[in-house]
Amino acid sequence: MLRPKKNILFQLTGSIACYKACGVISRLVQEGYDVKTAVTENALKFIGKSTLEGLTHHAVYVDTFEDRSALEHIELTKWMDLAIVCPATANVMNKLAAGVADDFVTTLFLAWDQKKPYLIAPAMNRNMWAHPATRRGVKTLEDWGVKVLGTGKGYQACGDAGEGRLLEPEAIYKEIIKNL
Ligand SMILES: Cc1cc2nc3c(=O)[nH]c(=O)nc-3n(C[C@H](O)[C@H](O)[C@H](O)COP(=O)(O)O)c2cc1C
Repeated sequence: MLRPKKNILFQLTGSIACYKACGVISRLVQEGYDVKTAVTENALKFIGKSTLEGLTHHAVYVDTFEDRSALEHIELTKWMDLAIVCPATANVMNKLAAGVADDFVTTLFLAWDQKKPYLIAPAMNRNMWAHPATRRGVKTLEDWGVKVLGTGKGYQACGDAGEGRLLEPEAIYKEIIKNL
């Protein structure tokens, strides 16, 4: 039996782990999910629009004021069955927790229909993960009903080792399916 098609809004931010998120997006598309992507400007320093468009067959949302994007942040919140920020930088997590809406990704969050699952997969250096601002941000987001996924422990791109690594793509994929 064909799986009913679900819509996933996949958002990427400026982390070295963007390349890992592509594995999750590819898997979702291959399994029949409709995936649209939104990115921060800084995410595009780590991953090209062409990769995301090629994987999802949809244009990428970056700029709230782009012609095509006008009021799209509202339409997308209606379209989606689940949203995920993956990888989520310390910056974006803390902006979301502060209610800041100064780009496409953060504006979408304030327009989020809170009956729908919203997941965050953090990826950052261990000191950023341990910082009091991030600790408080995680708690605030969880209090608001956001599901903040755990992080892996181990080697980090900066050469440190510790908490804050993005979970492996298979674990993220399973969390998405579980929460749909
Ligand atoms: C090579 C490199 C890797 C980075 N990786 C991360 C990361 O994994 N997590 C993070 O929180 N910030 C990381 N940063 C810092 C963010 O890119 C920076 O805070 C940026 O302002 C985030 O923008 P955004 O949150 O709007 O995407 C990295 C920066 C560089 C230069």
